[in-house]
Amino acid sequence: MSLTLPPLPYALDALEPHISRRTLAAHHGYHHAAYVDRTRALVRGTPLESASLEEIVRASAEPRQKALFNAAAQAWNHAFYWRSMRPGGGGDPRGEVARLIGERFGSQRAFSQEFVSAASDQFGSGWAWLVLDGDRLQIISTSNAETPLITSQVPLLTIDVWEHAYYLDFQQRRLDYIAAYLAHLVDWDFANQNLSLAQRSQARIPLHQESAIAVQIR
Ligand code: FE2
Repeated sequence: MSLTLPPLPYALDALEPHISRRTLAAHHGYHHAAYVDRTRALVRGTPLESASLEEIVRASAEPRQKALFNAAAQAWNHAFYWRSMRPGGGGDPRGEVARLIGERFGSQRAFSQEFVSAASDQFGSGWAWLVLDGDRLQIISTSNAETPLITSQVPLLTIDVWEHAYYLDFQQRRLDYIAAYLAHLVDWDFANQNLSLAQRSQARIPLHQESAIAVQIR
C-alpha cells in the first residue's frame, strides 16, 4: 500500500483562534505532506514499499537509514500530533490519565509545569511527549525527528515545537503556544485511548491490532 497524507481530523480553521487556518494549511499541507512524499519516494522499490508507516519508522531507526528515518518519523509524529489536539480541548485531564498524572506528578499543576519546561527547554526543533514508561507516566522531549515510537515508551500525547508549528501565530513566543495547547487544544480522550490500548497490550489482552497506539497510519 502506498503511503498517503492522512487528512486532518478537523477543519483547517477548527483550532482558531489558538492555531490559525494559515498555520494548519502550511503545516499539514506543506510540511507534513513533504515528509510523507519523501518517505514514499525513499521506500519505492524496496522491501519496505508495502510496510505501514509505523513499520518503516521502526525499521529505519539505525544510522545508515538516517534520511528515511527522518522523513518517516516526522510523518508519523505529525499524524500523532494532529490527533493530540481537538477543537474545544485542553483543561484538566480526565479518566485514567488523570489518575496516573496525580500519582506521578502530584497535581495537574505540577504536570503542566513539567510539560511546559520540557517543551520550552527543547533546544531548537523537536517535540515534547507524555509517554507511558512501564506502569508510570513520563514527560520527555526529543530532537528533530526523534520519536518514542522506537523505544519501549508508549506515546500518549505530543506537541510539535518546531518553529513552523507556531511562528505564524506566536512568532518567537513558544511559551504562549505551549500554554494555548494545554489550556485549549490538548485531547485527553486521545491520551486515554492510547493509555487503555497500552495497558491492555501489557496485560497481553489481544488487541486485534498491530500496535498499542491509537493512531494508525499507513
Ligand atoms: Fe511540524
